[in-house]
Amino acid sequence: MTNTIDTTKAAWRVQAQGAGSFLPIQIISLQVDSVTEFEIFVRSKPDETPVLYRAKDLAFTEDALQRLAENKITHLYIRSSDERAYHRYMQQNLSSILSRPDIDKEVKSVLLYDSAQSLVKEIMQDPRSGEAIRRSKNLVETTVSYLYAERDAFEHLLKVTSFDYYTYTHSVNVFVFSVTLAQRVGLGDPEHMRDFGDGVLLHDVGKSMLDPVIINCRGKLSKKQWESMKLHPVHGYEILRRQGALADAALDVVRHHHEKLQGGGYPDGLQGDQIGPWVRICTICDIFDALTSKRSYKPAMQSFPALALMKDEMLNDLDREYFRAFVDMMGHPSAT
Ligand SMILES: [Fe+2]
Ligand SMILES: [Fe+2]
Repeated sequence: MTNTIDTTKAAWRVQAQGAGSFLPIQIISLQVDSVTEFEIFVRSKPDETPVLYRAKDLAFTEDALQRLAENKITHLYIRSSDERAYHRYMQQNLSSILSRPDIDKEVKSVLLYDSAQSLVKEIMQDPRSGEAIRRSKNLVETTVSYLYAERDAFEHLLKVTSFDYYTYTHSVNVFVFSVTLAQRVGLGDPEHMRDFGDGVLLHDVGKSMLDPVIINCRGKLSKKQWESMKLHPVHGYEILRRQGALADAALDVVRHHHEKLQGGGYPDGLQGDQIGPWVRICTICDIFDALTSKRSYKPAMQSFPALALMKDEMLNDLDREYFRAFVDMMGHPSAT
């Protein structure tokens, strides 16, 4: 059990650091016959500036793919400014990429993780975009199906998880942990799992309404700032409820993920049976990820001390059965 990213496998994400305003993309992320809304570049030598390889709106053909393979080219490049367009393209093609047996599972995990991060980042910048919320529902559906279909999907996703804290990385981590935990404790069918996933992925979307000074605060929040922070579940709930795109179970997770079983949580001070099973799952995963993520003002805790702290100091506020299953899941990520 470790928080360290497997740098050898994840290293290709950041290859070609010297390519200036270009970003490397894996060729396998391009689908034959699909049209891209961004230009694609190629670079034959490591220190060369990438040159235009494919214009926008030109379909990527099987022939082109073969020629690249013959030339042993594994990466192409896009302009950094097209990163969002690339991620949108990825999100559209994610389902077929995840179903391809010829793609390494770790690579699939990185593509999935990065697509999800990019989407949550976009939603945090414009949480009222119904179009982005629809894309997030598609991504949740694809991810849930993948987690159901592949026995070791979670183990691979865990390896590429980032523990540098940003609201968007945190959201994706809590989403992956929560859906896997819910599956392991036998909660719900795929349809309910999708509703749950919609809520978990966006559980902190209300933070987009807070003053960035509060979000980026390096020390202890003042009393007033803390009161403001405690409103983020209500902000998120209101934003998403007004859009009418999420099921009640999802909205419940967004509003209540900071409630405590013994009471004293926020925003509604619920306790015991008032807190449903889906919310209980999300709360455990949320606390764990917050503890194990690195912040500008604190180092990341390793998994075991974080679990020990949760057991020693928070267990009465958490669902014990789900917590035990969570400890087991982090200790045995490959088990099903
Ligand atoms: Fe939260
Ligand atoms: Fe959270």
